[in-house]
Amino acid sequence: MKRTLGVCYYPEHWPEDQWAKDAAQMVATGLTWVRIGEFGWSRMEAVPGVLTWDWLDRAIAVLGDAGLKVVLGTPTATPPRWMIDKHPDMLAVDAQGHPRKFGSRRHYDFSHLAYRDECRRIARLMGERYGQNPHIAAWQIDNEYDCHDTTLSYSDAARKGFQDWLAQKYQSPDALNRAWGNVFWSMDYDTFDQIDLPNLTVTEPNHPHQLAFRRYSSDQVAAFNKVQADELRKHTTAPLIHNYMGRITTFDHWKVGADLDIASWDSYPIGFLSDRLEGTPKFKQTFLRQGHPDNQAFHHDLYRAVGKGRLWVMEQQPGPVNWAPYNPAPLPGMARLWAWEAFAHGAETVCYFRWRQAPFAQEQMHAGLLRPDSAPAPGLAEARQVADEIEGLGEVGTAQAQAALVFDYESAWAWDVQPQGADFEMFRLAFAAYRALRRAGLNIDILPPDTADLSAYKLVLAPGLMTLSDPLRAALARFDGIALIGPRTDTKTDELAIPNPLGPHLPDTDVTIALTESMPPNDKIKLQGGGRFVHWFEHLEGTAPVHLSTKAGQPAIMGGDSLRYLAGWPDDATFDSIIGGLCDVLDLPSYRLPEGLRLRDTATHRFIFNYAPKPQKWNGTVIPAAGVYWEPLA
Ligand code: GAL
Repeated sequence: MKRTLGVCYYPEHWPEDQWAKDAAQMVATGLTWVRIGEFGWSRMEAVPGVLTWDWLDRAIAVLGDAGLKVVLGTPTATPPRWMIDKHPDMLAVDAQGHPRKFGSRRHYDFSHLAYRDECRRIARLMGERYGQNPHIAAWQIDNEYDCHDTTLSYSDAARKGFQDWLAQKYQSPDALNRAWGNVFWSMDYDTFDQIDLPNLTVTEPNHPHQLAFRRYSSDQVAAFNKVQADELRKHTTAPLIHNYMGRITTFDHWKVGADLDIASWDSYPIGFLSDRLEGTPKFKQTFLRQGHPDNQAFHHDLYRAVGKGRLWVMEQQPGPVNWAPYNPAPLPGMARLWAWEAFAHGAETVCYFRWRQAPFAQEQMHAGLLRPDSAPAPGLAEARQVADEIEGLGEVGTAQAQAALVFDYESAWAWDVQPQGADFEMFRLAFAAYRALRRAGLNIDILPPDTADLSAYKLVLAPGLMTLSDPLRAALARFDGIALIGPRTDTKTDELAIPNPLGPHLPDTDVTIALTESMPPNDKIKLQGGGRFVHWFEHLEGTAPVHLSTKAGQPAIMGGDSLRYLAGWPDDATFDSIIGGLCDVLDLPSYRLPEGLRLRDTATHRFIFNYAPKPQKWNGTVIPAAGVYWEPLA
């Protein structure tokens, strides 16, 4: 398979006589794909029921005739103004009870069934019109589920839907009362229609109540997506894609991904570092114009799995964005590096966002490959370079990962509703574990929580899983590498209660969590031989061998040769030495990579990425700041 590049384009933003010139320049830049349509509803259907396809027909024809493959988006993230008049109660409602108004995007409620029908209708109409169009080679459904915090809505539609969902799941109010422990504080219900959404309570709502609402809300995202996927599949065999975001855990991407053919995500490394990732001021300064050296890789590995092996980057930052607190320009070379990193992690296609910077509306300060005056922006030449390099390098394939990390969305909800320590968050913990594997230079796969086969891996990490699924527990029982489980794994029931016997329930491994503590940032648990736990520490007891202890003599890692429980959240240096030690036991070659230097092996080549703002050496080769280098694997 040849890797390809593309770009996001909005024909409706530009005069029609510009389209052919733009298309020709895209082709000349070496781009293969163009994504269009995802915000175009008001121009497709300006008046309810009156469809205006001629402009879209012509845009697809112009782009396709120029030699581009088109990704056509369904426009359901931007319901037009008339839709609100037709369905005034379709607006999502925030946790304070305020409707979210029209005037930007994503103002719909996933629970609103009449709006879902409108989406089914527009997907059907688009499928009928374009499903067999030879230029349409892929579809994007909606745009960035949960962007602008839109998964959870506290609307009447959500309350009604939640009550029905609860009735189906629990069958009787008594069963629900028992499952949730509603006897506590006299929270028992007599009927399902008494159960409200878990917002605006005096103090925190019961945890299983909140978890149920998270599960319900995630199911609505999956159902919303499936309605469109089912409709499109009646008319097309082209792959269906959604463009996920980074660090979004409010819905179960594994479930949404099951109904699609490819997982793509939108990669804005610089905006992310400034807006959404932890890091010391010094770290953020060092990587200000490059982004976090591990964030893109984490999401490539996650979404490659969500896409059942098929990954795209649907939107790649090419210059400053408009939405982060500060929006510096990338270092020269980064628009190239990010694309190559995606390819090395298995991406088939990387599309830059966007073709030309818009001179109007909300994103007018967001760079494109062209400036608003159509002159080339710095990203354009880098895209051209990547296109040339793809031709030169040929197919690089993929390599089997040695290490795996299990990632679960339900656990993310569980710890959101019951953090127990202000810094405990699922993404943060999983990302800390991932970073340690990556600093060790390993290829990593991210696996869903119901993974049934671990035999391809030597080292498996499973931090923060609320429960162990039956398939995973069985796979762990058979595993002959090393699995490091915990912290906070298999410590709860499915209803977020404490099990009896206490967890974790590891096959043939006598380890029990007797007590749990969380710590503020300046408090640490010191470990024997240096190292420390931060944020979280579990007091373990049992008869399994102790592999590492705290300075005070408590178990820090406990278990057998293969299954070991990690009792705390190691800081970065401690994680490095733990992973390094396990790699040594496993005879797995590993590194302690310097800051910003990262590796990824494909079937044929080792790629080396230098995220640092200064040149760094790899095996005697100097890799410039923001540079990529590849060498054939022996
Ligand atoms: C993404 C979104 C795009 C655009 C972009 C700007 O979140 O999908 O439509 O808004 O961000 O960076």
